[in-house]
Amino acid sequence: MSDRYATFTRSVVGRRIATSAGLPQPLVLNRWKPNAPAIQGPVLITSGTIEGDAAAIDPTQLVAAGAIAKAVDAAGADIQVSHADLAGDVIRAATDKQALGVYGATSKPVGSIVVDATAIATSEQLAAVYRALHPTAKKVRSSGRIVVVGLDPDLVTDPSKRIAQRALEGFVRSLGKEIGKGRTVNLILLAPGAETAIESTLRFFLSARSAYVDAQVVRIGAVKGDVAPADWDKPLAGKVALVTGAARGIGAAIAEVLHREGATIVGLDIPPLADDLAATLKPLGGESITLDVTADDAPAELSKQLKALHGTVDIIVHNAGITQDRTLARMKPERWDKVIAVNLVAPQRLTDKLIADKVVAKDARVIGLASIAGIAGNNGQTNYGASKAGMIGFVEAYADTFAKTGGTINAVAPGFIETQMTAAIPLTIREAGRRLTSLSQGGLPVDVAETIAWFASPGSAGVNGRVVRVCGQSLIGA
Ligand SMILES: NC(=O)c1ccc[n+]([C@@H]2O[C@H](COP(=O)([O-])OP(=O)(O)OC[C@H]3O[C@@H](n4cnc5c(N)ncnc54)[C@H](O)[C@@H]3O)[C@@H](O)[C@H]2O)c1
Repeated sequence: MSDRYATFTRSVVGRRIATSAGLPQPLVLNRWKPNAPAIQGPVLITSGTIEGDAAAIDPTQLVAAGAIAKAVDAAGADIQVSHADLAGDVIRAATDKQALGVYGATSKPVGSIVVDATAIATSEQLAAVYRALHPTAKKVRSSGRIVVVGLDPDLVTDPSKRIAQRALEGFVRSLGKEIGKGRTVNLILLAPGAETAIESTLRFFLSARSAYVDAQVVRIGAVKGDVAPADWDKPLAGKVALVTGAARGIGAAIAEVLHREGATIVGLDIPPLADDLAATLKPLGGESITLDVTADDAPAELSKQLKALHGTVDIIVHNAGITQDRTLARMKPERWDKVIAVNLVAPQRLTDKLIADKVVAKDARVIGLASIAGIAGNNGQTNYGASKAGMIGFVEAYADTFAKTGGTINAVAPGFIETQMTAAIPLTIREAGRRLTSLSQGGLPVDVAETIAWFASPGSAGVNGRVVRVCGQSLIGA
């Protein structure tokens, strides 16, 4: 589905009209391209803490700067530090580079900024994030990235520190709404000791892969050992991924991206879409399973077929989903039942059976498709909204089960994504869905797929039981 308004505002006349009328001008977002740098550099790493600061932040409490610098350096991006930033020495030591670029008022624009806000222990000290980004945020290139790293406030015992760390969320969400030019602002919150598990998430948020993920908060838990994949370009090498609803739309994009990241794909869809499924999977060298996920024998049949194909499965993406919209008063019971059956009952039944039959690998990654309709609600979607909020409940309820064996289960909640599903929405609602976002446009199926690939990475072991919206900071229910 083409976005005609966006195309118009990118023409000479359209740009002039949109500028004079103060209308949104959606930029072409910078997405993953082969052979492009993994991280949008150069990256300014800063803590906003400076010598002689009246608010006196203790620089020894900056727990993330070293890990951030190591991750950015390993990804091959140039690092810059701010003049007199108290994190400077830690950053230099972590990278083994004494001569890092020093960022100043006359410096050229940077690709990304990462702020280590972990040492902020009082509300007064929040001035450090102000100091870190007030002079620099607008110096991030178009489609560039800002990431703030703090502590998970729910795990901070000191009341003042907990309040200050909690405040970071409002800062990030507000900056996301005002920064413009396709730039995104996200917040990573660390549990004690989780800085060693930050690399996969930091790489994702600093890369073009997170183009449509804006103003999100991701909590990372501590993990045992080194979880980094052997090859960051193919983190899913050797993994088998099952994608339900893979014949078209978002499911097809998920299959493509997981394959690009190294996984062997098994795609599933309903028998009437067998040809579409085969066409999607052929270029990926993937295998098809055709069944209706709501059929009585679907769990047993899927288990049998996966066993025969690969023995076990490492990644399960519960993407198959439907809508059957009506206001509650007009909704027939079949419409209610069908949506709940496909979107919510089936993922749990299939997962339970695959676990019981030991078809799921110990360090499995399970990812469910929720929706912002499950967070904010939507007119005419009581059934769909319930099923998608239920998906969030599913990942929260199963997180401990997967954690016990080193696995994870998470959900993505897409906002307005350009697919056949959203092409059927009436024009005015469709335009609102696109334009009422911080990025002034709808997302693409690939944006959801990239987020799923990040969850699926071995390096994302510390991210469990979470929901991330892929919605361009949709203002609907934000
Ligand atoms: N498009 C959006 O903007 C959007 C927004 C939020 C969430 N989502 C969710 O993303 C997922 C994919 O959506 P999409 O837009 O690509 O939809 P789509 O209709 O294009 O694709 C859904 C796929 O699921 C398959 N499917 C449906 N019922 C099935 C069943 N009983 N058994 C097996 N397969 C079945 C369909 O055949 C189809 O191939 C869904 O879960 C949807 O709810 C989409």
